Formats: sequence, structure tokens, C-alpha cells
Amino acid sequence: MSRPAAIILAAGKGTRMKSELPKAMHMICGRPMLDFLLKTAKAAGCENIFVVAGHGFELVREFTGKRAILVRQKEQLGSAHAVNQTASKLSKFTGPVFVFYCDTPLIKAGTAKNLLRDFLEKKALCTLLSVASPDPFGYGRIKRDLSGTVEKIVEENDASAEEKKISEINVGCYVFDAKKLFTVLRSVQKNALKKEYYLTDVIERLAKQGSVNSVVTTDTDEVLGINSRTDLAKAEKIMQERIIKEWIEKGVRIRDPKSTMIDADVEIGQDTTLLPNTVIEQGSVIGRGCTIGPFARIRGGSRVGDGSVIGNFVEIVRSKIGKNTQIKHLSYIGDAEIGSFVNIGAGTITANYDGKKKHKTIIKDKAQIGSGTILVAPVIVGREARTGAGAVVTKKNNVPDRAVVVGVPARKLEVRR
Ligand code: UD1
Ligand code: CA
Repeated sequence: MSRPAAIILAAGKGTRMKSELPKAMHMICGRPMLDFLLKTAKAAGCENIFVVAGHGFELVREFTGKRAILVRQKEQLGSAHAVNQTASKLSKFTGPVFVFYCDTPLIKAGTAKNLLRDFLEKKALCTLLSVASPDPFGYGRIKRDLSGTVEKIVEENDASAEEKKISEINVGCYVFDAKKLFTVLRSVQKNALKKEYYLTDVIERLAKQGSVNSVVTTDTDEVLGINSRTDLAKAEKIMQERIIKEWIEKGVRIRDPKSTMIDADVEIGQDTTLLPNTVIEQGSVIGRGCTIGPFARIRGGSRVGDGSVIGNFVEIVRSKIGKNTQIKHLSYIGDAEIGSFVNIGAGTITANYDGKKKHKTIIKDKAQIGSGTILVAPVIVGREARTGAGAVVTKKNNVPDRAVVVGVPARKLEVRR
């Protein structure tokens, strides 16, 4: 049997987000929503992944790159119309196809796999994800017949008073038999009220032709649909808790999970301690046995080697720190490459930006940087070299190995060491 395909719907504008950004590109824990769905589709074993984009097409394309096949939906005429944009590309495909909504990004890979398993076991035409919601308002309701079989989905606008009482809602995550899906899509009519083609209309048609089932989840967090910034803030919190739990389980000590922020796509080694109010941003890699914080910010693209200490009020960006190095207080380290067993005194600043370009600072192994040193990049501080307190090392005035420099601008001190 062929591996499943996936269609991720990401063409909507997201009017209620009140933003210029297409909804798919709004961030959760440092990554666009779309990123989570691309990962989920991949983890669920999908081979060909299609992203249907419309609003902010170029942005979505740039972000997606080679991870998916982009399909344009010129006019946003509804979710059925969006899925149909992939019809020609999937015309020869006979396997199962997932449909994900980019505004439901918290669905776990395990749940997607359960959906597929159920679909295959029951030889279904569709298996969809549903949940009993305490607040079903606004969602499509799952209508079942007396025997409990799924009959159709009724959207909020079309629901009768009786149907509105149904608490089981459509999450917006499905596995379909691709051939059948595209066949019934042809017969979907525009919804009279909303003037859109609803994907949910295919359910009734498929239920008449074969088996449609639902996998019911009890996790109301993972099914959150994001329509507003309030929902986005909720999603951020849920995802943050998930990420923190994951790192704790992998052996990281997080002293105050509530005040710690860790983005998706970060790595942290075992026995590292994160102290309160620490922020670790997307793409950072932290070694084993480090101590980070309190009040530290490790920004994207940074690497901190095993056993290093990044203390209070230290910001690190696009920098590589070796092993057992200490940067314990009030420092800014940007575009730097710092060796191992280095001590960076309190208040050290790498002045990396000259108003036009960012420049690099290199500090070699065992160097000792005095408190309040300013290193104007590009500059190199040699191995075992030292700078005096308050020294301003000007650009390209590299400090040789084992030398000592002091003053403003820093000059070499003739000392025997
Ligand atoms: C949809 C479901 C509803 C479900 C809910 C879960 C339909 C008709 N209804 O409602 O049953 O309970 O999600 O959150 O599907 N999109 C496009 N192109 C379009 C229209 C939409 O790509 O022309 C994308 C959107 O970007 C979004 C997804 O499809 O990712 C769903 O569309 P949306 O308008 O948010 O549907 P809901 O009203 O939330
Ligand atoms: Ca939605």
C-alpha cells in the first residue's frame, strides 16, 4: 500500500487575527503554525505533502521551501474548494490522504497516526477527529444516527436549535480515501449562507457510500482551533507546557517552569539547570551540565558547550560558547566565538554592530575578560590573554595569546606571566 499523502489548508486570511501576516505564519513558541503541521504530517508517515496557500502566498512559499508542494488557491472559496486545488496533482493517487487545517496546529503526531490506523483497520472512506467540547459554539457538529454511526457534519450557521446542542465537534483533521474524496468533491455545492464550498459537506456523501468513523480524543488542548489572537495566546501556553514537560522528562532541571520559556526546535543536554525567567529561543543548542539564568536570554543560532554557566542578565545571540566557560553577569555576547575555560567578567559587551554590518568577536581558550570590557568587533582575543577592568579593545587590535591589555583604548601591558 502506498504511503499516505497530506493536504494542509493554509490559504485563509484569518480576518479575526487582525494582522497583515497570513494565519499560517503566526508564531507559536518561535515557529510558524504551519511548521507544526508539516512536522505532524511527516511524523505520521506522509510522503507527498501539499500546502494550499493563498493569502501571503510568497511568505508561505518561502517558509515551506522543499518541505512540501505548494498549491495556489487564488480565491478563498472554502475548505472544499481549497482541497480541490490539489485534485490534478493527486489524480493518480489511490492511497489515504490526510487533510489538516493550518489553524489547528497542536494536533499530536500520535493522534494523526491513530486516525490513520483506524482508517485502515475499518477500510473506511473517511476517519475524522472529534472531541466532546464544553463550548461547541462556532464548530461543525458531528451528527450521528441512532446506532451511533456518523451521518454528517452540520456547521454552526446551518445548525438547528436541536443540532446546536450537540457537543461533539469536528476538529478539522481527517484521513480520506483519496479517490473517493475527489469524486465526491465534484458534487459539493456552495453553502447558501456563507457562499463557500464546505469540505464538511463531503462527510454526508461518503457516509452514504461507505464507512465514516471518528476517533474521539479527550484532549481538548490539542484540538484548539486558532481564529483570534486570544486563541493564539492559549496555543502558545499549551505548546510551552508541552515543550517544558518534554525537557524535564529528558533530564533537564527547570526550577520554575512557569517563568521559563523554551521555543520549539531547541536542544538541551541532560543535567543542565534552567533558572527562573530564562528564555531559550528557536535553534539554540545547549550542552550537558550547564547552568543558565536566572534572567538569561539565549537567542537563535547560539550554542553553549557542556558545563558552561550563563548567568543573570546575559544575552547571547548567534554565538558559539565552548565548554566550561563562565559568563555569569550582565553581558551581551553577539556574533562571537568563545573558547573553553574562558571567564567573561561582569558587564562585558561585544560591540558587534557598526551601524551597517555585524562583525565577529573571537575569544580563545582560557582567556580572561575583565569586568566592563568592551570588545569592538571584528576583534580577536588570544589564548590565555587578559583584559583589564573597563578596557575598550578597539576593532582589529587583536590581543595576542597570553598578552594583557588595559585602558581606553586598550594598550598592551608589559607584564611577565
Ligand atoms: C472549520 C470546519 C468546522 C470545524 C472547524 C475546526 C469547514 C467548513 N468547517 O470551520 O467543521 O469545526 O474548522 O476548527 O471546514 N481555508 C483555505 N481556503 C479557503 C477556506 C479555508 O485554505 O478558501 C483554510 C483556512 O486557512 C483554515 C481551514 O481551511 O486553515 C479551515 O477554514 P476556517 O475558515 O478556519 O473554518 P472554520 O470556520 O474554523
Ligand atoms: Ca478555523
